[in-house]
Amino acid sequence: MSETILELKNIHKSFGTNSIHRGINLTLKKGESLGLLGGSGTGKSVLLRSIIGLERIDQGEILFHGERFDHLKETLLTPYRIKISYSFQSGALFDSVNVFENIAYPLFEHTRFSYQQIKDKVAEMLKLIDLPGREHVMPSDLSGGMQKRVGMARAMILNPEVVLYDEPTAGLDPANTLNVIALMQRFKNQGLASIFVTHDIPSALSLCDRIVVLHEGKIIFNDTPEKFEKSDDPIVNKFNLSSKD
Ligand SMILES: Nc1ncnc2c1ncn2[C@@H]1O[C@H](COP(=O)(O)OP(=O)(O)OP(=O)(O)O)[C@@H](O)[C@H]1O
Ligand SMILES: [Mg+2]
Repeated sequence: MSETILELKNIHKSFGTNSIHRGINLTLKKGESLGLLGGSGTGKSVLLRSIIGLERIDQGEILFHGERFDHLKETLLTPYRIKISYSFQSGALFDSVNVFENIAYPLFEHTRFSYQQIKDKVAEMLKLIDLPGREHVMPSDLSGGMQKRVGMARAMILNPEVVLYDEPTAGLDPANTLNVIALMQRFKNQGLASIFVTHDIPSALSLCDRIVVLHEGKIIFNDTPEKFEKSDDPIVNKFNLSSKD
């Protein structure tokens, strides 16, 4: 059996009287891609944010390679945020600096690589995201799909073990959606594990090894894409049908 990298145990989270997570248990294994589905407002983004400590959970434990880290103070979370990377829903590029500065930022921040090493790493990453030689372009001069890919490149540059994708294809046209999914597949082929939050069911089914459905604070489905498609659970089926619009 392959190794568990990330483990969520009995997670509870509320905002005031608004109870979001009511006992979530989830494991992610090495190299595994997990598709996280759920209606709008069910707490998918909050769950990703909780994993990297941008939200604090009320109860439960989050473990990385068997080590609990959810209760650590902010400064001690940095090594976990390098290993567990978060690709923001919006892409979140720095608008005032070029593509090179955007992708290189985590390397300047967290490593002691020389300037030449950083240049080489960024150049290599730009090839991987099909934007070779675009170091000097400003984000505003890129299409939405290209900006997403640059955001993903920044999330990957420190070689994380896990990446959390929050709706990476939202707002993209079909061609750019395919480009982003192809890039996620490339990262997956390199052994990267991921949690992929999306409303794009066909993309989740094509990329993921496992589909998880969040409903009313709990995980009500956690199985293969094949079982997801065959499920006769009415709530699971609602997602399945919406993918066939
Ligand atoms: N910082 C916060 N303070 C208070 N409530 C919040 C906060 N962040 C999220 N919420 C609430 O938590 C719930 C879950 O939000 P979340 O953003 O995780 O939903 P989601 O499943 O990602 O939805 P979508 O598919 O629309 O992105 C919502 O009711 C939201 O209003
Ligand atoms: Mg969200």
